[in-house]
Amino acid sequence: MKNQGRVYLVGAGPGDPELLTLKAVRTMGLAHAVVYDRLVSDEILALIPTSAHAIPVGKAPKSHPVPQERINEILVELAQAGQTVVRLKGGDPSIFGRGSEEAAALHAAGIPVEIIPGITAAQGAAAVTGVPLTHRGLATGVRYVTGHCRGDSPLDLDWAGLADPQTTLVVYMGAANIREIATKLLEQGLPTSLPVMAIANATTPRESRIFSRLETIAVEIAAARLEGPMLFVIGSVVSLYRSCPAEVMSVFSYGPLREAVNA
Ligand SMILES: C[S@@+](CC[C@H](N)C(=O)[O-])C[C@H]1O[C@@H](n2cnc3c(N)ncnc32)[C@H](O)[C@@H]1O
Repeated sequence: MKNQGRVYLVGAGPGDPELLTLKAVRTMGLAHAVVYDRLVSDEILALIPTSAHAIPVGKAPKSHPVPQERINEILVELAQAGQTVVRLKGGDPSIFGRGSEEAAALHAAGIPVEIIPGITAAQGAAAVTGVPLTHRGLATGVRYVTGHCRGDSPLDLDWAGLADPQTTLVVYMGAANIREIATKLLEQGLPTSLPVMAIANATTPRESRIFSRLETIAVEIAAARLEGPMLFVIGSVVSLYRSCPAEVMSVFSYGPLREAVNA
């Protein structure tokens, strides 16, 4: 019988390969197989060793070419065949990444699992724009929420709890529902002028940003037709974007940035 392999659930970060952890890079170098998501950037996929079998299992909105149950099975099968497997996921595996479901399936099959954290998209977006997620006097906390519910069912969020002017709200997977999200937050009393930043493909050369307000963000998103994974930062901290010197931002950013700044 072959030795059993193991699986590393690795966070690839938001896209910039320099935001990978040393541990992530080292582990990719050990892999016999790398099972990767759609959101892992081309720049990071280029780091997969040619000796490793690269297996795409990417899910796109409304299209799940490889169902989650099958992804779990693939991981189990590869490890049972004695392979060292890297399961490469965008951002951090523990934040809207279903990493815990994969870990549970592997544990149930008796396969050793190690989780290697990644920089979540919100942190990458904060770094490249200079918009902090918390800031003394503006935001005492931050909440990461999903703007998409299972199977396109209606959003079932605690709108009253989310509408806290002292808390920065980061909405993942919210592009399709931003109109509903903004409307619900306005209904709960957040100001129409509350600043909102939308950022797509943060930390990559394809990055684009829109700065707007809660009452206008939905219209601007519809008009801009930004492509790629996008998140929204909603809160007073977004106003600090303008106070961030350009040279500080350019340390983190690379490539041309397309910006649509709404005064
Ligand atoms: C399934 S979730 C995965 C989140 C990931 N585990 C993380 O920690 O960033 C996918 C969502 O993350 C956000 N996202 C991921 N990468 C991004 C990027 N480079 N720029 C902006 N948003 C990103 C988008 O909201 C996207 O719809």
